[in-house]
Amino acid sequence: PQDCPSKQDMQSSLRQVHKLLSAHEESYLQNLRTLRKKLSLLQSAKPNATCPNIDAPASGRKLGKVHHPGHEVHFLCDLGFELVGSETRQCRANLSWSGQQPVCRDINECASFPCMNGGTCENEVNGFVCICDKGWGGSTCQSQVPTSASSSPQATLSPAIRPSHCSQVQGTTHCTCDPGYTISGRDTTVCTDIDECELFHTGQAGRLCLHTCVNMAGGYRCSCPSGYNVTRDGRNCKDVDECATRQHNCSRDQLCINTYGGFQCVRVYCPRIRNATYAKTSPLRCERNPCPVDSRACSQAPNSVSHHFLSVVSNMSAPRVMFRVSAVRVIGDTLRFSLLGSHARRHFTVQRSDRLTGQLLLVSPIQGPAMVEAEVEMTELEKRVQLARYITKVTVFVSQYDF
Ligand SMILES: *[C@@H]1O[C@H](CO)[C@@H](O)[C@H](O)[C@H]1NC(C)=O
Ligand SMILES: *[C@@H]1O[C@H](CO)[C@@H](O)[C@H](O)[C@H]1NC(C)=O
Ligand SMILES: *[C@@H]1O[C@H](CO)[C@@H](O)[C@H](O)[C@H]1NC(C)=O
Ligand SMILES: *[C@@H]1O[C@H](CO)[C@@H](O)[C@H](O)[C@H]1NC(C)=O
Ligand SMILES: *[C@@H]1O[C@H](CO)[C@@H](O)[C@H](O)[C@H]1NC(C)=O
Ligand SMILES: *[C@@H]1O[C@H](CO)[C@@H](O)[C@H](O)[C@H]1NC(C)=O
Repeated sequence: PQDCPSKQDMQSSLRQVHKLLSAHEESYLQNLRTLRKKLSLLQSAKPNATCPNIDAPASGRKLGKVHHPGHEVHFLCDLGFELVGSETRQCRANLSWSGQQPVCRDINECASFPCMNGGTCENEVNGFVCICDKGWGGSTCQSQVPTSASSSPQATLSPAIRPSHCSQVQGTTHCTCDPGYTISGRDTTVCTDIDECELFHTGQAGRLCLHTCVNMAGGYRCSCPSGYNVTRDGRNCKDVDECATRQHNCSRDQLCINTYGGFQCVRVYCPRIRNATYAKTSPLRCERNPCPVDSRACSQAPNSVSHHFLSVVSNMSAPRVMFRVSAVRVIGDTLRFSLLGSHARRHFTVQRSDRLTGQLLLVSPIQGPAMVEAEVEMTELEKRVQLARYITKVTVFVSQYDF
Protein backbone atom coordinates (compact mmCIF):
# COMPACT_ATOMS: atom_id res chain seq x y z
CA PRO A 1 0.00 0.00 0.00
CA GLN A 2 2.90 2.39 0.46
CA ASP A 3 3.78 4.37 -2.67
CA CYS A 4 7.06 3.25 -4.20
CA PRO A 5 9.02 6.00 -6.07
CA SER A 6 8.42 5.75 -9.76
CA LYS A 7 11.24 4.95 -12.16
CA GLN A 8 11.30 8.56 -13.35
CA ASP A 9 11.65 9.81 -9.76
CA MET A 10 14.56 7.49 -9.12
CA GLN A 11 16.37 8.56 -12.31
CA SER A 12 15.85 12.20 -11.50
CA SER A 13 17.31 11.73 -8.00
CA LEU A 14 20.33 9.90 -9.40
CA ARG A 15 20.94 12.73 -11.87
CA GLN A 16 20.91 15.21 -8.96
CA VAL A 17 23.45 13.16 -7.01
CA HIS A 18 25.66 12.86 -10.07
CA LYS A 19 25.58 16.62 -10.60
CA LEU A 20 26.54 17.21 -6.98
CA LEU A 21 29.48 14.82 -7.17
CA SER A 22 30.73 16.43 -10.38
CA ALA A 23 30.67 19.84 -8.73
CA HIS A 24 32.65 18.51 -5.77
CA GLU A 25 35.19 16.88 -8.05
CA GLU A 26 35.59 20.12 -9.99
CA SER A 27 36.27 22.14 -6.85
CA TYR A 28 38.65 19.50 -5.48
CA LEU A 29 40.67 19.55 -8.70
CA GLN A 30 40.75 23.35 -8.61
CA ASN A 31 42.22 23.30 -5.10
CA LEU A 32 44.77 20.74 -6.11
CA ARG A 33 45.90 22.89 -9.03
CA THR A 34 46.43 25.97 -6.85
CA LEU A 35 48.28 23.89 -4.27
CA ARG A 36 50.63 22.55 -6.95
CA LYS A 37 51.21 26.07 -8.21
CA LYS A 38 52.19 27.29 -4.77
CA LEU A 39 54.43 24.32 -4.20
CA SER A 40 56.29 24.83 -7.45
CA LEU A 41 56.56 28.52 -6.64
CA LEU A 42 58.20 27.68 -3.33
CA GLN A 43 60.53 25.19 -4.91
CA SER A 44 61.57 27.50 -7.72
CA ALA A 45 62.32 30.39 -5.32
CA LYS A 46 65.95 30.77 -4.51
CA PRO A 47 66.78 30.30 -0.85
CA ASN A 48 66.88 33.65 1.01
CA ALA A 49 65.77 35.46 -2.16
CA THR A 50 64.01 38.68 -1.24
CA CYS A 51 62.21 41.54 -2.90
CA PRO A 52 64.14 44.84 -2.94
CA ASN A 53 64.13 46.87 0.21
CA ILE A 54 61.30 49.37 0.48
CA ASP A 55 61.10 52.39 2.74
CA ALA A 56 58.30 53.82 4.79
CA PRO A 57 56.77 56.94 3.24
CA ALA A 58 57.64 60.35 4.70
CA SER A 59 55.34 61.07 7.69
CA GLY A 60 54.45 57.40 7.80
CA ARG A 61 55.50 53.93 8.92
CA LYS A 62 56.03 50.51 7.40
CA LEU A 63 54.85 47.35 9.14
CA GLY A 64 56.47 44.04 8.21
CA LYS A 65 60.19 43.32 7.94
CA VAL A 66 60.21 40.07 5.94
CA HIS A 67 60.74 40.66 2.25
CA HIS A 68 60.53 37.07 1.04
CA PRO A 69 58.11 36.12 -1.71
CA GLY A 70 54.57 35.70 -0.44
CA HIS A 71 55.07 38.09 2.46
CA GLU A 72 53.38 41.43 2.80
CA VAL A 73 54.29 44.82 4.15
CA HIS A 74 51.77 47.41 5.33
CA PHE A 75 51.97 51.18 5.42
CA LEU A 76 50.51 53.65 7.92
CA CYS A 77 50.54 57.44 7.95
CA ASP A 78 51.08 59.73 10.91
CA LEU A 79 48.10 61.54 12.43
CA GLY A 80 46.82 64.31 10.23
CA PHE A 81 48.04 62.59 7.08
CA GLU A 82 46.26 60.31 4.68
CA LEU A 83 47.73 57.51 2.63
CA VAL A 84 47.73 57.77 -1.15
CA GLY A 85 48.82 54.57 -2.96
CA SER A 86 48.91 50.97 -1.81
CA GLU A 87 48.20 50.29 1.83
CA THR A 88 49.60 46.76 1.42
CA ARG A 89 52.29 45.46 -0.92
CA GLN A 90 53.17 41.83 -1.47
CA CYS A 91 56.49 40.36 -2.47
CA ARG A 92 55.71 38.49 -5.67
CA ALA A 93 57.31 35.27 -6.97
CA ASN A 94 59.40 37.21 -9.51
CA LEU A 95 60.80 39.28 -6.59
CA SER A 96 58.93 42.45 -7.38
CA TRP A 97 56.46 44.26 -5.13
CA SER A 98 52.81 44.44 -6.02
CA GLY A 99 51.04 47.81 -5.98
CA GLN A 100 52.44 51.34 -5.88
CA GLN A 101 54.69 53.00 -3.38
CA PRO A 102 52.42 55.02 -1.10
CA VAL A 103 52.88 58.61 0.07
CA CYS A 104 51.43 60.31 3.15
CA ARG A 105 49.64 63.54 2.32
CA ASP A 106 48.63 66.19 4.84
CA ILE A 107 44.86 65.98 5.28
CA ASN A 108 43.35 69.26 4.18
CA GLU A 109 40.51 69.73 6.65
CA CYS A 110 39.70 72.97 4.90
CA ALA A 111 38.80 71.16 1.70
CA SER A 112 35.22 70.70 2.93
CA PHE A 113 34.91 74.45 3.69
CA PRO A 114 34.05 73.94 7.37
CA CYS A 115 34.07 77.63 8.29
CA MET A 116 30.71 79.33 7.97
CA ASN A 117 29.56 82.92 7.60
CA GLY A 118 32.58 84.12 5.69
CA GLY A 119 35.16 82.62 8.05
CA THR A 120 38.60 81.76 6.70
CA CYS A 121 39.89 78.22 7.17
CA GLU A 122 43.52 77.59 8.06
CA ASN A 123 44.70 74.05 7.63
CA GLU A 124 46.93 72.71 10.38
CA VAL A 125 48.69 69.36 10.59
CA ASN A 126 46.22 67.96 13.06
CA GLY A 127 43.12 69.94 12.18
CA PHE A 128 42.01 73.37 11.18
CA VAL A 129 41.11 76.70 12.70
CA CYS A 130 38.47 79.10 11.52
CA ILE A 131 39.22 82.78 11.53
CA CYS A 132 35.78 84.25 11.87
CA ASP A 133 34.44 87.44 10.38
CA LYS A 134 33.51 90.18 12.81
CA GLY A 135 30.32 89.36 14.66
CA TRP A 136 30.71 85.57 14.36
CA GLY A 137 32.21 83.01 16.67
CA GLY A 138 32.32 79.35 17.54
CA SER A 139 34.46 76.55 16.20
CA THR A 140 33.11 76.98 12.69
CA CYS A 141 31.92 80.59 12.99
CA GLN A 142 28.40 79.22 13.32
CA SER A 143 27.11 81.50 16.06
CA GLN A 144 26.56 85.19 16.24
CA VAL A 145 28.57 87.03 18.83
CA PRO A 146 26.86 89.85 20.70
CA THR A 147 28.41 92.99 19.27
CA SER A 148 28.01 95.01 22.44
CA ALA A 149 31.33 93.74 23.72
CA SER A 150 34.31 95.67 22.42
CA SER A 151 35.16 93.54 19.45
CA SER A 152 38.78 93.73 18.44
CA PRO A 153 39.36 94.42 14.77
CA GLN A 154 41.75 91.52 14.32
CA ALA A 155 40.36 88.07 13.80
CA THR A 156 40.21 85.68 16.72
CA LEU A 157 41.47 82.14 16.59
CA SER A 158 38.70 79.74 17.40
CA PRO A 159 39.47 77.45 20.33
CA ALA A 160 37.46 74.76 18.61
CA ILE A 161 40.23 72.21 18.73
CA ARG A 162 42.05 70.58 21.58
CA PRO A 163 44.36 67.63 21.92
CA SER A 164 42.84 64.42 23.23
CA HIS A 165 44.10 62.36 26.15
CA CYS A 166 45.26 58.96 24.99
CA SER A 167 46.35 55.91 26.91
CA GLN A 168 47.51 52.49 25.91
CA VAL A 169 45.43 49.60 27.18
CA GLN A 170 46.67 46.15 26.22
CA GLY A 171 48.18 47.37 23.00
CA THR A 172 45.24 49.44 21.85
CA THR A 173 45.01 53.19 22.16
CA HIS A 174 42.06 54.79 23.88
CA CYS A 175 41.58 58.50 23.50
CA THR A 176 39.19 60.73 25.40
CA CYS A 177 38.31 64.39 25.17
CA ASP A 178 37.66 67.19 27.62
CA PRO A 179 33.95 67.68 28.39
CA GLY A 180 32.22 69.43 25.51
CA TYR A 181 34.68 68.09 22.97
CA THR A 182 34.58 65.01 20.80
CA ILE A 183 36.75 63.07 18.39
CA SER A 184 35.06 63.80 15.10
CA GLY A 185 37.38 62.48 12.45
CA ARG A 186 39.74 59.60 11.97
CA ASP A 187 42.39 61.44 13.88
CA THR A 188 42.01 60.41 17.50
CA THR A 189 44.56 62.91 18.80
CA VAL A 190 42.27 65.80 17.98
CA CYS A 191 39.10 66.77 19.81
CA THR A 192 36.73 69.27 18.28
CA ASP A 193 34.16 71.35 20.09
CA ILE A 194 30.64 69.92 20.21
CA ASP A 195 28.12 72.46 18.95
CA GLU A 196 25.48 71.69 21.57
CA CYS A 197 23.15 74.31 20.09
CA GLU A 198 23.23 72.63 16.71
CA LEU A 199 23.01 69.15 18.20
CA PHE A 200 19.91 69.86 20.25
CA HIS A 201 18.41 72.29 17.79
CA THR A 202 15.33 70.29 16.91
CA GLY A 203 12.69 68.75 19.11
CA GLN A 204 11.00 70.39 22.05
CA ALA A 205 12.23 67.72 24.44
CA GLY A 206 15.84 68.26 23.54
CA ARG A 207 15.74 72.03 23.35
CA LEU A 208 18.60 73.43 25.37
CA CYS A 209 17.54 77.02 25.77
CA LEU A 210 14.18 78.68 26.04
CA HIS A 211 15.37 81.58 23.89
CA THR A 212 18.80 81.71 22.26
CA CYS A 213 21.58 79.16 22.47
CA VAL A 214 25.14 80.40 22.04
CA ASN A 215 27.75 77.75 21.37
CA MET A 216 31.06 78.22 23.12
CA ALA A 217 34.32 76.31 23.13
CA GLY A 218 33.65 73.27 25.28
CA GLY A 219 30.08 74.22 26.11
CA TYR A 220 27.18 76.54 25.46
CA ARG A 221 25.23 79.25 27.18
CA CYS A 222 21.67 80.43 26.93
CA SER A 223 20.79 84.05 26.48
CA CYS A 224 17.51 85.83 27.05
CA PRO A 225 16.07 88.95 25.48
CA SER A 226 16.37 92.20 27.39
CA GLY A 227 13.80 92.39 30.16
CA TYR A 228 14.48 88.80 31.13
CA ASN A 229 17.14 87.16 33.27
CA VAL A 230 18.54 83.71 32.65
CA THR A 231 17.24 81.42 35.37
CA ARG A 232 19.37 79.57 37.86
CA ASP A 233 19.30 76.42 35.70
CA GLY A 234 20.92 78.45 32.94
CA ARG A 235 18.39 77.48 30.32
CA ASN A 236 15.20 79.39 30.91
CA CYS A 237 14.29 83.05 30.96
CA LYS A 238 12.56 84.77 33.84
CA ASP A 239 10.86 88.11 33.42
CA VAL A 240 12.48 90.94 35.35
CA ASP A 241 9.93 92.90 37.38
CA GLU A 242 11.08 96.42 36.53
CA CYS A 243 8.32 97.92 38.66
CA ALA A 244 9.30 96.04 41.81
CA THR A 245 13.02 96.58 41.27
CA ARG A 246 12.57 100.27 40.44
CA GLN A 247 14.13 99.98 37.01
CA HIS A 248 11.25 101.93 35.47
CA ASN A 249 10.97 105.59 34.61
CA CYS A 250 7.25 106.08 35.21
CA SER A 251 6.37 109.40 36.74
CA ARG A 252 4.72 109.87 40.12
CA ASP A 253 1.21 110.15 38.76
CA GLN A 254 1.65 107.04 36.65
CA LEU A 255 1.30 103.41 37.59
CA CYS A 256 4.02 100.99 36.63
CA ILE A 257 2.69 97.77 35.15
CA ASN A 258 5.19 94.97 34.79
CA THR A 259 4.90 93.11 31.51
CA TYR A 260 6.69 90.07 30.14
CA GLY A 261 9.93 91.55 28.89
CA GLY A 262 9.30 95.13 30.00
CA PHE A 263 6.94 97.52 31.73
CA GLN A 264 4.25 100.06 30.93
CA CYS A 265 3.48 103.38 32.54
CA VAL A 266 -0.24 103.95 32.76
CA ARG A 267 -2.44 106.75 33.98
CA VAL A 268 -5.94 106.13 35.27
CA TYR A 269 -8.47 108.82 34.43
CA CYS A 270 -12.00 108.98 35.74
CA PRO A 271 -14.73 109.23 33.10
CA ARG A 272 -15.99 112.62 32.00
CA ILE A 273 -19.69 112.27 31.47
CA ARG A 274 -22.09 115.15 31.23
CA ASN A 275 -24.09 115.79 34.42
CA ALA A 276 -22.21 113.10 36.34
CA THR A 277 -19.04 113.48 38.38
CA TYR A 278 -16.60 110.88 39.56
CA ALA A 279 -14.13 110.53 42.36
CA LYS A 280 -11.07 108.26 42.44
CA THR A 281 -11.64 105.92 45.34
CA SER A 282 -8.52 103.84 44.69
CA PRO A 283 -5.66 104.00 42.17
CA LEU A 284 -7.67 101.81 39.80
CA ARG A 285 -11.26 102.75 40.58
CA CYS A 286 -13.59 105.70 40.05
CA GLU A 287 -17.02 106.00 41.65
CA ARG A 288 -19.86 108.25 40.66
CA ASN A 289 -20.73 111.00 43.09
CA PRO A 290 -24.34 111.10 44.28
CA CYS A 291 -26.63 112.39 41.53
CA PRO A 292 -28.85 115.44 41.88
CA VAL A 293 -32.44 114.45 42.38
CA ASP A 294 -34.19 113.70 39.10
CA SER A 295 -31.05 113.94 36.95
CA ARG A 296 -31.74 111.12 34.59
CA ALA A 297 -28.47 111.65 32.69
CA CYS A 298 -26.54 111.21 35.90
CA SER A 299 -28.40 108.20 37.16
CA GLN A 300 -27.90 106.47 33.80
CA ALA A 301 -24.13 106.97 33.93
CA PRO A 302 -22.00 104.08 35.23
CA ASN A 303 -21.90 103.85 39.04
CA SER A 304 -18.27 102.86 38.91
CA VAL A 305 -15.46 102.37 36.45
CA SER A 306 -12.66 99.97 37.42
CA HIS A 307 -9.40 99.51 35.59
CA HIS A 308 -7.40 96.33 35.40
CA PHE A 309 -4.11 95.72 33.69
CA LEU A 310 -3.07 92.25 32.70
CA SER A 311 0.28 91.16 31.35
CA VAL A 312 0.33 88.03 29.26
CA VAL A 313 2.67 86.20 26.94
CA SER A 314 2.20 86.10 23.19
CA ASN A 315 0.03 83.48 21.48
CA MET A 316 -1.73 82.29 24.61
CA SER A 317 -4.01 79.39 23.84
CA ALA A 318 -7.75 79.99 23.73
CA PRO A 319 -10.44 79.67 25.01
CA ARG A 320 -9.27 80.95 28.36
CA VAL A 321 -10.84 82.95 31.16
CA MET A 322 -8.98 86.25 31.48
CA PHE A 323 -10.99 88.04 34.11
CA ARG A 324 -14.06 87.64 36.33
CA VAL A 325 -16.51 90.34 37.35
CA SER A 326 -18.74 89.71 40.33
CA ALA A 327 -21.48 91.66 42.05
CA VAL A 328 -20.87 92.03 45.76
CA ARG A 329 -24.44 92.73 46.82
CA VAL A 330 -27.45 92.73 44.60
CA ILE A 331 -30.63 94.66 45.11
CA GLY A 332 -32.28 93.98 41.76
CA ASP A 333 -33.68 90.74 40.41
CA THR A 334 -31.38 90.44 37.38
CA LEU A 335 -27.70 90.90 36.50
CA ARG A 336 -26.63 91.28 32.89
CA PHE A 337 -23.06 91.02 31.62
CA SER A 338 -21.92 92.33 28.25
CA LEU A 339 -18.87 93.32 26.25
CA LEU A 340 -18.84 96.96 25.18
CA GLY A 341 -17.43 98.16 21.89
CA SER A 342 -16.92 96.13 18.73
CA HIS A 343 -13.12 96.04 18.39
CA ALA A 344 -12.68 93.77 21.42
CA ARG A 345 -14.93 91.07 19.93
CA ARG A 346 -12.11 89.85 17.74
CA HIS A 347 -10.45 88.30 20.76
CA PHE A 348 -12.98 88.30 23.59
CA THR A 349 -16.45 87.38 24.60
CA VAL A 350 -18.29 87.76 27.90
CA GLN A 351 -20.11 84.88 29.54
CA ARG A 352 -21.99 84.41 32.74
CA SER A 353 -20.31 81.81 34.92
CA ASP A 354 -22.80 81.86 37.79
CA ARG A 355 -25.68 84.01 39.00
CA LEU A 356 -23.45 86.82 40.27
CA THR A 357 -20.38 86.41 38.08
CA GLY A 358 -19.50 87.15 34.51
CA GLN A 359 -16.22 86.26 32.85
CA LEU A 360 -14.14 87.76 30.10
CA LEU A 361 -13.13 84.92 27.83
CA LEU A 362 -10.24 85.00 25.38
CA VAL A 363 -11.52 83.31 22.23
CA SER A 364 -8.56 83.65 19.86
CA PRO A 365 -4.82 83.83 20.58
CA ILE A 366 -3.23 87.27 20.43
CA GLN A 367 0.16 87.64 18.80
CA GLY A 368 2.36 90.13 20.59
CA PRO A 369 3.60 92.71 20.99
CA ALA A 370 0.13 94.16 21.38
CA MET A 371 -2.16 96.04 23.71
CA VAL A 372 -5.82 95.03 23.70
CA GLU A 373 -8.62 96.61 25.67
CA ALA A 374 -11.98 95.20 26.64
CA GLU A 375 -14.81 96.81 28.59
CA VAL A 376 -17.12 94.58 30.54
CA GLU A 377 -20.41 96.05 31.62
CA MET A 378 -22.48 94.65 34.45
CA THR A 379 -26.03 95.97 34.66
CA GLU A 380 -28.35 95.47 37.58
CA LEU A 381 -32.08 95.44 36.82
CA GLU A 382 -35.24 95.28 38.82
CA LYS A 383 -38.36 94.46 36.84
CA ARG A 384 -36.42 95.40 33.67
CA VAL A 385 -35.59 98.81 35.02
CA GLN A 386 -31.91 99.65 35.25
CA LEU A 387 -30.78 100.19 38.80
CA ALA A 388 -27.04 100.42 38.32
CA ARG A 389 -24.20 99.99 35.82
CA TYR A 390 -20.64 98.99 36.63
CA ILE A 391 -17.86 99.11 34.04
CA THR A 392 -14.63 97.17 34.19
CA LYS A 393 -11.93 98.22 31.75
CA VAL A 394 -9.42 95.45 31.16
CA THR A 395 -6.19 96.34 29.39
CA VAL A 396 -4.09 93.40 28.25
CA PHE A 397 -0.40 93.88 27.49
CA VAL A 398 0.71 91.07 25.24
CA SER A 399 4.43 90.38 25.24
CA GLN A 400 6.50 90.02 22.11
CA TYR A 401 7.57 86.60 23.41
CA ASP A 402 5.63 83.51 24.29
CA PHE A 403 7.37 83.23 27.66
C1 LIG B 1 69.94 32.28 4.34
O1 LIG B 1 69.67 33.01 5.51
C2 LIG B 1 70.01 32.36 6.73
C3 LIG B 1 69.59 33.22 7.86
O2 LIG B 1 68.62 34.10 7.50
C4 LIG B 1 71.53 32.10 6.72
O3 LIG B 1 71.89 31.38 7.89
C5 LIG B 1 71.95 31.36 5.49
O4 LIG B 1 73.35 31.25 5.43
C6 LIG B 1 71.46 32.06 4.24
N1 LIG B 1 71.78 31.26 3.05
C7 LIG B 1 72.25 31.83 1.94
C8 LIG B 1 72.52 30.84 0.81
O5 LIG B 1 72.51 33.00 1.83
C1 LIG C 1 56.25 40.04 -11.89
O1 LIG C 1 55.00 39.34 -12.07
C2 LIG C 1 53.83 40.20 -12.20
C3 LIG C 1 52.66 39.28 -12.35
O2 LIG C 1 52.64 38.33 -11.33
C4 LIG C 1 53.99 41.12 -13.38
O3 LIG C 1 52.86 41.96 -13.48
C5 LIG C 1 55.24 41.94 -13.23
O4 LIG C 1 55.43 42.74 -14.38
C6 LIG C 1 56.46 41.03 -13.03
N1 LIG C 1 57.62 41.87 -12.76
C7 LIG C 1 58.81 41.62 -13.24
C8 LIG C 1 59.91 42.56 -12.85
O5 LIG C 1 59.03 40.64 -13.97
C1 LIG D 1 18.84 90.18 36.46
O1 LIG D 1 20.09 90.45 35.83
C2 LIG D 1 20.60 91.74 36.13
C3 LIG D 1 21.86 91.95 35.33
O2 LIG D 1 22.03 90.97 34.38
C4 LIG D 1 20.87 91.87 37.62
O3 LIG D 1 21.33 93.14 37.91
C5 LIG D 1 19.60 91.58 38.38
O4 LIG D 1 19.86 91.56 39.75
C6 LIG D 1 18.99 90.26 37.97
N1 LIG D 1 17.71 90.13 38.61
C7 LIG D 1 17.33 89.02 39.20
C8 LIG D 1 15.96 89.03 39.80
O5 LIG D 1 18.04 88.04 39.26
C1 LIG E 1 11.17 105.90 29.67
O1 LIG E 1 12.34 105.65 28.93
C2 LIG E 1 12.11 105.24 27.61
C3 LIG E 1 13.44 104.99 26.98
O2 LIG E 1 14.32 104.38 27.85
C4 LIG E 1 11.35 106.26 26.83
O3 LIG E 1 11.07 105.77 25.53
C5 LIG E 1 10.07 106.56 27.54
O4 LIG E 1 9.42 107.60 26.90
C6 LIG E 1 10.34 106.95 28.99
N1 LIG E 1 9.08 107.12 29.68
C7 LIG E 1 8.87 108.10 30.51
C8 LIG E 1 7.53 108.10 31.15
O5 LIG E 1 9.69 108.94 30.76
C1 LIG F 1 -27.54 118.54 32.87
O1 LIG F 1 -27.58 119.49 33.89
C2 LIG F 1 -27.94 120.75 33.47
C3 LIG F 1 -27.89 121.69 34.65
O2 LIG F 1 -26.67 121.57 35.31
C4 LIG F 1 -29.32 120.70 32.87
O3 LIG F 1 -29.66 121.99 32.37
C5 LIG F 1 -29.37 119.69 31.76
O4 LIG F 1 -30.67 119.53 31.28
C6 LIG F 1 -28.86 118.36 32.22
N1 LIG F 1 -28.79 117.47 31.10
C7 LIG F 1 -29.30 116.23 31.11
C8 LIG F 1 -29.13 115.43 29.88
O5 LIG F 1 -29.86 115.82 32.10
C1 LIG G 1 0.96 79.70 18.48
O1 LIG G 1 0.76 78.51 19.21
C2 LIG G 1 0.43 77.39 18.42
C3 LIG G 1 0.19 76.20 19.34
O2 LIG G 1 0.02 76.55 20.63
C4 LIG G 1 1.54 77.08 17.46
O3 LIG G 1 1.18 76.01 16.63
C5 LIG G 1 1.81 78.31 16.62
O4 LIG G 1 2.92 78.06 15.78
C6 LIG G 1 2.08 79.51 17.49
N1 LIG G 1 2.22 80.68 16.64
C7 LIG G 1 3.25 81.51 16.75
C8 LIG G 1 3.27 82.67 15.82
O5 LIG G 1 4.13 81.35 17.58
